Amino acid sequence: MKVSIVGSGYVGTTVAACLADSGHEVVNIDVDEDVVENLNDGLSSIHEPGLDKLIEKHGGDQLRGTTDYGAIRDTDVTFLALPTPSTDDGSIDLSVLKAGARSVGEALAEKDNYHLVVVKSTVIPGTAEDVLVPLLGDASNSIERRDFSIASNPEFLREGSAVTDFLDPDKIVFGTDGDERALDRLHDVYHPIIEETDAAVVETGRREAEMIKYANNAFLAAKISLINDIGNICKEFGVDAYDVADAMGLDDRIGERFLRSGVGWGGSCLPKDVAALCAAARTQDYEPALLHAAVEINERQPENMLALLDDHADVSDKRIAVLGLAFKPGTDDVRNSRAIPIIEGLRKRGAVVVAYDPVATENMRAQFPGIDYAKSATGALENSHGALVVTGWDEFTALSHEFERMADPIVVDGRRVINPKVLPDGATYEGLTW
Ligand code: UDX
Repeated sequence: MKVSIVGSGYVGTTVAACLADSGHEVVNIDVDEDVVENLNDGLSSIHEPGLDKLIEKHGGDQLRGTTDYGAIRDTDVTFLALPTPSTDDGSIDLSVLKAGARSVGEALAEKDNYHLVVVKSTVIPGTAEDVLVPLLGDASNSIERRDFSIASNPEFLREGSAVTDFLDPDKIVFGTDGDERALDRLHDVYHPIIEETDAAVVETGRREAEMIKYANNAFLAAKISLINDIGNICKEFGVDAYDVADAMGLDDRIGERFLRSGVGWGGSCLPKDVAALCAAARTQDYEPALLHAAVEINERQPENMLALLDDHADVSDKRIAVLGLAFKPGTDDVRNSRAIPIIEGLRKRGAVVVAYDPVATENMRAQFPGIDYAKSATGALENSHGALVVTGWDEFTALSHEFERMADPIVVDGRRVINPKVLPDGATYEGLTW
């Protein structure tokens, strides 16, 4: 099939590269000329395991980049993978998505056969129906001709494993208004993946599909916050929350995943989506108490981590290492990373922050240009009076004699990645929930 994808961010680029690899002819449209040029040169503009190989293989060939929306006319289906960022009250800002949809509509005005537009961006239930259908119909002058339809196909991929998540998903959700042509075309696009995996295909309405994405992320966020809440109680009672979670996870009804307690959840999706769902609920006069609590617990975890350091040291004017800046391992994304409140808290205490991350340093430097960045974990630990482990990178698990370089070996672990047995004699080790 010929597929166009609007937006070359984390989702759009991954979907584009994976669909090209599945045998489709893909064109990825973005306003950023550098990103487009990179794609055509076979280079990835983002750090995502496996993505660079796919782009190297298909870029400029089966996968092309362009800034021209006109490219849509030569395709059978267009995915909208544009950002829906948070506004100050947590609700989502649809302006980028709407502008993209308008440009798609204008391109479709000059197309004379049926076209499917698929919303990949995360949007509040009713957005496809109430906002995008009229907008596209208007821009393409074709609402009466009914020669386009809009479907919802939310994305569940995780940063750091986005390529494998897309090519081997647990589920694929098709939300349509019942138009068989839309459903058929979605099946055609996903055919290679459905054939080769045991992914469940969920056919549902558009509003339901839009809600499934929010419900999914709200559940995951609440699951982590619940285990963090339990973990905080565990810490008070001298109980190891990881032993508790391991046993809990053996119950099929609970499941072992997303039970890692610690400094909490960040990233571009969980915080934004929970906030958007709360804001949407509020417009209907419903206050989602559990989701509010999930957010509150999450905001408390970095403070709890700093308080553990305070218990052992006055960090004012002291060099303190922050190990890990990415919101999770496997990505260079620092959006809503728990490292942000940690760095802010350390600076408020007057500490001299020395941060290290294997890939996310430059992204964090844009946010905190005034702190020191080490080139290695060893460099960050050197002469430091405390270390806070914020991201669960594997390379931190391998650290051992490096801790001997600390002036004062106090280690607060927010991700359960340091083995306290490797620390030098007399060192202090604090786990956040263990
Ligand atoms: C999430 C959803 O998982 C994905 O389905 C959706 O499409 C996008 O949002 P992502 O943001 O990439 O994916 O990361 P995820 O793996 O879900 O982790 C989110 C945050 O939770 C990270 O900060 C991670 O460190 C934290 N986390 C995760 C925990 O603290 N404990 C856990 O047990 C799992």
